[in-house]
Order: sequence, then structure tokens, then C-alpha cells
Amino acid sequence: QHQKLWNNARITITAGPTREAIDPVRYISNHSSGKMGYALAAAAARTGAQVTLISGPVSLEPPAGVTLIAVETAEQMLAATEETAMDVFIGCAAVSDYRPAEVASQKIKKEQQQGAPSLSLIKNPDVLKTIATSKQPPFCIGFAAETNNLREHALAKLDAKKLKLIVANDVSDKTIGFNSEQNAVTVYWQDGKKAFSAQNKTSLAEALNQLFAEHFFNENK
Ligand code: PMT
Repeated sequence: QHQKLWNNARITITAGPTREAIDPVRYISNHSSGKMGYALAAAAARTGAQVTLISGPVSLEPPAGVTLIAVETAEQMLAATEETAMDVFIGCAAVSDYRPAEVASQKIKKEQQQGAPSLSLIKNPDVLKTIATSKQPPFCIGFAAETNNLREHALAKLDAKKLKLIVANDVSDKTIGFNSEQNAVTVYWQDGKKAFSAQNKTSLAEALNQLFAEHFFNENK
């Protein structure tokens, strides 16, 4: 492997799910395991990047040579990202788009409810969009988890979030995507694309890492 591929570039990567509290014992979350983001962090660190990995709650060991910042909520993920994102930002986390409008300070008891309680939600910040549309943004790479119209939705996100690259992930197929060992993706950019067939997340991360570095150094010669 090209040990000096990244030439000490500073890369921040988000991984895993976020957790949005309903009350002290309950939360809203999703099926992200963190495997894809951790594999990317490991690949970048092995190839000469200085990597900060901002991770939601997962059960993985942090890769060697990576600085780990553990967070729970989307707001914490945004704060940690704003503090650390420098040359490259890769948003691989499955950030909860919404959170409960209020967090109950005590466990919500069914005895106190008349019928089923309803949960009112408010919008979370978009970590990737906030970073990518900031004043002097890093080189921003997003993921798009979609169950239909993959290409169209991915290209819309590339545009709306002002990204350099977007990695489109078909999560309707259970053998790839959330919490699977394997993944298959297509990466899109303004005037091109590249497809990666199903393979384990470690080898896919190595291939993506290569592509990301090529695009980054093409822009920052
Ligand atoms: O963790 P694994 O089990 O290995 O699974 C990997 C994965 C399927 C989670 C990963 O490959 C993936 O697709 N991650 C993105 C998941 C996602 O939330 O996609 P999205 O299409 O909802 O979001 C688009 C982009 O905006 C993503 O880069 C996301 O990190 C970012 N985003 C979204 C919402 C939000 N509030 N803030 C964000 O930063």
C-alpha cells in the first residue's frame, strides 16, 4: 500500500449512528454499525493521513493510529466536526434527521398516559451540509443511503450539500449497507462516476480511500 498517499493531510470522518434521547432510558437511532466509517478511517490512517474519527455509539475498537471522539447526538457530532475538520471531511455517519422536541427528565410511565403518547420531533442540524457550506470548507465527501432512485437522489445530495464526491449506497439490499459485512457503492462527482462491486468493507474502504486521495490532490496540487 502507498504509505504516503495522503502526505499527512488531516481527515475527519464521522461514523455510526446518532442517538437522540426520548427520556433517560429510550432513544431514536438506526442500524448503522460503524463498520464502513471505521474501515475508511483505518485505510486513511494506514496511508499517511492524520485521522480524527467522530463516532456515534458502536461496538467496534478504534483503528490504530486514529484519534477517536465519541459522541451520541447529532448536535454533539456537529460540534466535534466543526472543531476538527481541516483538509478533508467524510460524512459516513447515519445522522438522525430528527430528534424529540423535548427530552423527558424522568422515564415516561405508561400509567401516566391516556392512550398511546405521541412524540413530537424537531429537525437536527445537517452536519455535512453545515461543514460543506461553511466559509472555507474542507474537501467534502458524503454518503447517500437510499432505498430507491439511487443515482437521482445521490446527485441531488451532491448538489444540495455542495460536495465534491458522494458515495451512493443502496440500502434496500440487506447484504450491503447498514450493519452488513459487505458493501457495494457507486461514487458520483460533478462530471463522472465510478462503481465498486460487492466486497467486504475493508477492501472497499481501501479502494474508496485511493479514489478520494486522487480527487483531493487533483484539486489541491
Ligand atoms: O455503519 P455501517 O453499518 O457500516 O453502514 C454504513 C452506512 C450504510 C451507514 C454508510 O455506508 C452510509 O450510507 N452512510 C450515510 C447514511 C446516511 O445517513 O445517509 P443520508 O443519505 O441520510 O445522508 C446523506 C449524507 O448527509 C451522509 O453523508 C450523512 O452523514 C450526512 N448527514 C445526514 C443528515 C444529517 N442530519 N447530517 C448529516 O451530516
